[in-house]
Amino acid sequence: MLSGKNILLIISGGIAAYKSLDLIRRLKERGTGVRCVLTAGGAQFVTPLSVAALSEEAVFQGLFSLKDESEMGHIRLSREADLLVVAPASADLMAKMAAGLADDLASTILLATDKPVLVAPAMNTRMWEHPATQRNLATLLEDGLRVVGPGQGDLACGEVGAGRMSEPLEIVGAIESLLIGDAAAAPLKGRRAIVTSGPTYEAIDPVRFLANRSSGKQGHAIAAALARLGAEVVLVAGPNNQPDPAGVMVHDIESAAQMLAACETALPADIAVCAAAVADWRVAGEAEQKMKKDGSGRPPSLALVENPDILATIGQLNGGRPGLVVGFAAETEKVVDHGQSKRTRKGCDWIVANDVGTGTGVMGGDENTVHLITAQGVENWPTMSKDAVADALARRIADHFAAE
Ligand code: C5P
Repeated sequence: MLSGKNILLIISGGIAAYKSLDLIRRLKERGTGVRCVLTAGGAQFVTPLSVAALSEEAVFQGLFSLKDESEMGHIRLSREADLLVVAPASADLMAKMAAGLADDLASTILLATDKPVLVAPAMNTRMWEHPATQRNLATLLEDGLRVVGPGQGDLACGEVGAGRMSEPLEIVGAIESLLIGDAAAAPLKGRRAIVTSGPTYEAIDPVRFLANRSSGKQGHAIAAALARLGAEVVLVAGPNNQPDPAGVMVHDIESAAQMLAACETALPADIAVCAAAVADWRVAGEAEQKMKKDGSGRPPSLALVENPDILATIGQLNGGRPGLVVGFAAETEKVVDHGQSKRTRKGCDWIVANDVGTGTGVMGGDENTVHLITAQGVENWPTMSKDAVADALARRIADHFAAE
């Protein structure tokens, strides 16, 4: 959607500048031209070389650099882009923008531009909450600038609170809304989605459990991608170390039984994506007290009972079945064959099948090579990051509803 668009990215001084390097990659992945301006403060956190290498463009730093001025004046720089993005926007740069100061290249461009401006603030909580910053924010909003974030959470300074710069993909979402309009950027607005993610823990006794190696990366990425397209998303997540995706309602659970109950509570929905690695079995008669060795040298025997199949339960609902039910098939052999039979057996519409035996789909990894199996056939997708798989799947889901 952003292919062929041009962004001028202004990176000011803040530790969040490292995330702007990823933002450049995400934009380039989408075919967007990215030209960067690095303030003196920004250059303390990321190097011009990294920015130039990722953007594949010269980096602009000095207002009075003759080379830059002769090749590209600040006025031209400010007008050639479709959108100016300030990420991170420091408290200092926001203050300059609100006051209309123009004492370096970034602030001069921001004063000279006739293009929309998106600001992604990043700073310490106290600085963000300070009346001066809030006044400046109000001024910028009144001037018609758009703001994304900041989010809440752990800050690099060791404090916790508002001030974290939005994640690169959230900023991409805000850029899409601005450049192509909310309707095109949020085709799933008004749709509700349930996503399961992560492993389940099945208790043996109060301190022990059965689990698996699922990281939750793919499921969480799908929840985030659906939310970016405007869906109202409930993420039912087993124990994991992923940050809660922005704009998603997260229900943390442990066992398969709890996951099913949380999904049933979250119904009705238009979309269900079951990406969790649900334990097939739980322990029959979980011990109430911690099990002890009895001195006999004989290990206890654990009897297992089968867990409910959440995907099959949702896929085969008689009333209130979501319009689109998507399951995953992590296989070590005959990936597509097993995926196809799983699609019919579980009553789901689509299966995302991947090979977890070797290569990129291995649990916990960052990349995935998947096949999308639908009633119409099989699509073999190239190896992508799990975020890119999530984006592509969310877009396919949006296209499905658009075609309805
Ligand atoms: O049968 P298998 O576990 O390989 O199927 C995988 C798919 O089924 C995944 O989408 C997974 O989330 C879902 N599943 C489930 N509940 C279970 C077992 C699997 O939702 N108890």
